[in-house]
Formats: sequence, C-alpha cells, structure tokens
Amino acid sequence: MITVPTAVTVRAPAKINLHLGVGAVGADGFHPLTTVYQAVGLCDDLTAHPADDLSVELATADWVDAGVIPTDASNLAHRAATLLGRHHGRELTGRLVVEKAIPVAGGLAGGSADAAAALVALDRLHDLRTSDDDLLRLAADLGSDVPFALIGGTALGTGRGELVDPVTDAGTWWWVLVPSLEGMSTPVVYAHFDRLFPDAPATPPGADELLDALRTGQPLSLARTLHNDLQDPAIDLRPELGLLIERGESEGALRGLVSGSGPTVVFLCESADHARDLAGALMRTGHPVVLVANGAVAGSHLVPSHV
Ligand code: C5P
Repeated sequence: MITVPTAVTVRAPAKINLHLGVGAVGADGFHPLTTVYQAVGLCDDLTAHPADDLSVELATADWVDAGVIPTDASNLAHRAATLLGRHHGRELTGRLVVEKAIPVAGGLAGGSADAAAALVALDRLHDLRTSDDDLLRLAADLGSDVPFALIGGTALGTGRGELVDPVTDAGTWWWVLVPSLEGMSTPVVYAHFDRLFPDAPATPPGADELLDALRTGQPLSLARTLHNDLQDPAIDLRPELGLLIERGESEGALRGLVSGSGPTVVFLCESADHARDLAGALMRTGHPVVLVANGAVAGSHLVPSHV
C-alpha cells in the first residue's frame, strides 16, 4: 500500500534565560555559557506540506516584523532542512509554512524555534526516524539555542549553550514579555559585553542559587536569583530597556530582566492574575505589545495541522 504523506505541524516555544552567565570569548568567537533556559508559552507553528522542492513561507502575527526574515536558503528552517537531508544522504523537499508569533531578533530564540520545528516536522513528513541524539547534534550545528528548542521545559545549558540537560523545576511561573519594535543583533550585544568586561572570567558564573530557587517553586525566591550578564551591555546599547525594567518593577513585577541578548524584557509575576494586571498597566503606559506567557512548556512537538 502506498501512503500519501499529509502535512505535519510542529509547535516550538520561545525561550527565556533565567540565568545567563557569560565567560570570556574563546578562540572560536563564542562565549562559554552557564545558562538556565525556560520554554514559555509563546510559540511558532511550522507546517511541512508535501512538495516537489524546498520552500519557506511566512505567516506572521501582527507584532512580528516579517520584513526582516529571509525566506531563501539562509532562513534557519531552510538550513535545518538541508542539514537533515545531508545527514540522510538525500535532498529533502517540503513547503514549510511558518506561523510566527515569537518576535524576531528579540532574545527569545524565535529563529532557533523554527529550525527545531523544521527538523521534527521534516523527520516525520519523510518518515526518517532520526535518533534523538542525531537531532540534537544537527540542532547544535544550526545554532547554540536550537537543541534547547527541541527539548523545552527548564534546562541547564553549557558549552556555548548547545549542551542541554533538564533540571528540576517545581514551579509554574508567570511572565509578562515586552518585545521592542526593533530587534537587536546577538553578535553585537556579545561584542559589547567584550568591550565592557575585558577581564571577564574564563569560566562563566554558575547557576546554583537559581537552580535551588527553581526547586522551591516560590516566585519570590526565583525573582531574587534571576541573572543575565548580557543585561548591562544590552541596556548600554538601548538605555530605554533599563527604564522599562524600572517601570515594570514599580508597577509591581517581582523582577524585570532582559531576555538573552535582548531587547525583549521579561517580568516575573506571582500568578496569572498578577501577570494580567501588570500587562494591563504596561499597556496603559504606552507599550503597544505586551504578552503574558507561562513556563515551563514542552519543546518542539506535533500538533494537529491547521494550515
Ligand atoms: O550560535 P548562534 O548562531 O545562535 O550564535 C550567533 C552569534 O552569537 C555567534 O556568531 C556569536 O557571535 C554569538 N554567540 C557567542 N557566544 C555564544 C553564543 C552565541 O558569542 N555562546
């Protein structure tokens, strides 16, 4: 019997970094990291349709600036397809439709989410049965944050961020996310870190206190231990991010923090109601896009196809 493959949709989450400890840049141009990732309920959906060639199309939420995302071979989902095909010694085809809700260049690993989703969707569409270890290796080749987008949850990231291990997380955490209209380039923020901290230690600051706080499930404990070494460089490049953190904290957030290399700012709240109240307050101060999301959520996973 010949089975005709039908479309496959994979949902992949945004990440935030609860702890981002950065060490001195290495000879390979990357910084050694000790980071704790959390996947939050703000997701891109990627649908792989059967097709005769490989293409990428975008359908974006109205807060996402689609203009800056390439759809050619440089698109990270497109590169994921090429890499997965090479691994299996063939050229993979598919019409990849990416429904983007994760802001672009926002420090939320939206491009990495799409790459992870493409790996999982094309693996299923072509029934390739790639092992989890191989998928993680291919993901690491695509970008430092891509392996985490596969596994989701809450995880410790080491190396340049690509070595991921799940950690114990007893909480349900509520976040308010405030993206900026204009994204920031990750390499530019890392280069600014190098300028501001020429004596950064070779070994990045560890995350033990934060890992303890995660085990308590208590928002106040977690709030005290949130940490991001890229926050100072990001604020130095975009002073309004510092003002936004102050505003959110004065409106009642337990803590505000730049997410990854920015410019999205995330605020930890006590509960869903608290997050909704804070989001309303921030919108009233003039922020056009304010999102509420909880964590941790699952990594890249199949959902019923809908496009
Ligand atoms: O791995 P990824 O492609 O996401 O990295 C993008 C850029 O971010 C790198 O080229 C590098 O400039 C910077 N980076 C870094 N150290 C890391 C991760 C990323 O310097 N651990």
